[in-house]
Amino acid sequence: MRRQKHLITVSALVLIVAVALYFVLTNLYALPLAASEEAGPIDAMFQAHFAIIAFLFSLIMVFVLYAAVVFRRQPGDTEDGPHIHGHTGLEITWTVVPVILVIGFAAWAVVTLRNLVRPDPAEMVVKVYSEQWRWTFAYPEYDNLESAELALPVDQPIVFEMESSDVIHSFWVPEFRVKQDLVPGRKTFLRITPTLIGNYRLRCAEICGNAHSSMQAEVRVLSAADFDAWIDERQDRPAFAQLTPEERGAFWYSNEGFGCAGCHSVDGSRLVGPSWLGLYGRTEQLEDGATITVDDEYIHNAILDPAAQIVAGYPNVMQPIYEQLFADKQAEILADEGVEIDIIADLIAYIQTLEE
Ligand code: CUA
Repeated sequence: MRRQKHLITVSALVLIVAVALYFVLTNLYALPLAASEEAGPIDAMFQAHFAIIAFLFSLIMVFVLYAAVVFRRQPGDTEDGPHIHGHTGLEITWTVVPVILVIGFAAWAVVTLRNLVRPDPAEMVVKVYSEQWRWTFAYPEYDNLESAELALPVDQPIVFEMESSDVIHSFWVPEFRVKQDLVPGRKTFLRITPTLIGNYRLRCAEICGNAHSSMQAEVRVLSAADFDAWIDERQDRPAFAQLTPEERGAFWYSNEGFGCAGCHSVDGSRLVGPSWLGLYGRTEQLEDGATITVDDEYIHNAILDPAAQIVAGYPNVMQPIYEQLFADKQAEILADEGVEIDIIADLIAYIQTLEE
């Protein structure tokens, strides 16, 4: 009878502590906003793990502490405790139950993973290119439109076809839950269906060099109508000849895959390289101690020969590829529109508009 009373008390305590601990765990390690269909099944597994962890911890600790307190040695009691030889039934139980649990979790995970990677006939392809240290996205269904920010229509199944041109990077938007590496020399895939309109941030989740932490990109989940408008805005831009140099500079900054926006902010925030806000006319200290004033000539040199004059405190990571990239683009515009454009002059004109 006494034994039954102890068992009932301990069982009740185990249950209460387990529920309280589950509550603490799920709040302490609260998951970020769930913004994709894939988040549901993954979060369900997380919650189940939290529940099991809470129950097992409580089961062991409550029994140990209860025994230590309730059955402690009484004053004057010098007898040995009863000699116990083990309990075969109990040992079989605490071996078999965890084995079944672990196998159950493994099966659950396999089924979930299979569902997450299964192609959807309605999916839209978005190409993802990664390199040290920027992301570029392309939309094959929209004339291979390229963008430095990732826009996605809500409730549309997406398959990312991902490539890396140098080292391993990793595509990770916490709100989408799923994550996938980009491996040089092969294509990798990731499927998501965004379910919540909003702005998110893509972070590279694989250490990929000294500017790894800055390898981020804006992710915008838009309504179908807003997504169409986003595409139109980029596709139906007027001819370059009709734009002012400042307008063209702003366009080069965030489009055409030059990647300026990946390393230079225009709002003063610090990315891989110096912000362009208030850059023109600013006095900068260089790595070698010299000071310069940012003018046309400095910007010109900094784009064509980026390693020559590094601003103190910033990594020497910009590649000397822009002379060729700009020449190709300028030749393309000359062929299309018959006008000569100077992309560096456009960028300088744009930077001059970014006054603090
Ligand atoms: Cu790319 Cu870290």
